[in-house]
Amino acid sequence: MNQRSLIVVYLTALMAAVSLSKLEASDPDLVSDFFVPEGVNISTIDGNYFTFTGFRSGVPMESGKKFGISKATLATFPALTGLGVSYALLSYLPGGLNALHTHPRASEILYLISGTLEVGVIDSTNKLYSQTLSAGDLFVFPKGLVHYQINTDAKTTALAISGLSSAMPGVVSLGTNIFGSGISEGVLSKSFDVSTDVIKTLESAFATKSK
Ligand SMILES: *[C@@H]1O[C@H](CO)[C@@H](O)[C@H](O)[C@H]1NC(C)=O
Repeated sequence: MNQRSLIVVYLTALMAAVSLSKLEASDPDLVSDFFVPEGVNISTIDGNYFTFTGFRSGVPMESGKKFGISKATLATFPALTGLGVSYALLSYLPGGLNALHTHPRASEILYLISGTLEVGVIDSTNKLYSQTLSAGDLFVFPKGLVHYQINTDAKTTALAISGLSSAMPGVVSLGTNIFGSGISEGVLSKSFDVSTDVIKTLESAFATKSK
């Protein structure tokens, strides 16, 4: 092997390694102990900066809704920047559903504080893994996979807290993502092999829900 082909092999391997590391990327690491917002003098930072009080009042429930969520991500808690973690507090009245969604940047580990909760996650072979959780149970939703939770109990509210492996996990709500994003009815109709009437029904349902 001459020197030029050695260099080509080396560069190819390097590029493969770089793209592989990008595939496995989590939140970028900091090169300091923690994130200091622009224009803030680090000597003014105290314990308040690392404290999030937004969960004190529990989960605010919109009237008429049976599911509510409160989030501590870097959008509301800047100290999380670069730390690769966040939390969500979730409340499900009887019948409350956290509808099908994915988190593109985070795995989720849910701890059921009270009540019972049916959870499900679907893998890339289309296999469904579901479970009815009791208070005290943990369930993990692997990164990027479609999942849901529903409180099927007729009387008791369920309360859960989820840890997520990104400070900004992102949420893709499937119904809104597919039927509320303005994809042409022709594409949707062909994609799901149903009439455009069926697509119109779904679009009108998710056009109102995306607000
Ligand atoms: C930060 O605050 C300290 C204490 O008030 C002060 O001594 C220092 O000069 C400040 N640093 C900057 C860059 O403003």
